[in-house]
Amino acid sequence: MKVHVANHPLISHKLTVLRDERTDSPTFRHLVDELVTLLAYEATRDVRTVPVKIKTPVTETMGVKLASPRPVVVPILRAGLGMLEGMSRLVPTAEIGFLGMVRDETTLQASTYANRLPENLACRQCFVLDPMLATGGTLVAAFNFLIERGATEITAICILAAPEGIAVLEEAFKDSGIPITLVTGALDENLNEHGYIGPGLGDAGDRLYGVV
Ligand code: URA
Repeated sequence: MKVHVANHPLISHKLTVLRDERTDSPTFRHLVDELVTLLAYEATRDVRTVPVKIKTPVTETMGVKLASPRPVVVPILRAGLGMLEGMSRLVPTAEIGFLGMVRDETTLQASTYANRLPENLACRQCFVLDPMLATGGTLVAAFNFLIERGATEITAICILAAPEGIAVLEEAFKDSGIPITLVTGALDENLNEHGYIGPGLGDAGDRLYGVV
């Protein structure tokens, strides 16, 4: 698995405001949106393209366009929804599928409660959006779901990641033969006994949308 930790002063600045407990929901949503666009730029570095011939007002030249089939973007509900707009801004032609996953706060096990994805993901580059890579349970379940449908390349975009979650993903997919990449804004220190990332930013879904 390839892990890319964004190292950029603008990302660090925005993350610091995001982490601050005094940051309100509208500002939090806005910052997540901006951060995802910056991370998506890195995450799509290997998106497939095809050569195309075009005519500028001056001459004919060769360029590239995104290849077919289009990439698939998969926000993990609920918190991943807050990342969708920032991703779609960069790749507006991507197809969007949804996966609803919930974590049992006692066992920390993830289970799927909803899905709206193409049945066949063969040859599709999939971009999974989940703000927090904590225990890794949600992403392992989500990746397995995509692989069962034929996904051949998976990139996860996470705002923050814990070392424990990265280790779980690495172990789970080491023999899968599927290229897996993680792009994250920061690699945090640890997980606490409740499965929260430290220093982290708290519950991403609650901070985006309030406690329900
Ligand atoms: N999910 C969150 O929203 N925050 C964490 O710290 C861990 C999992």
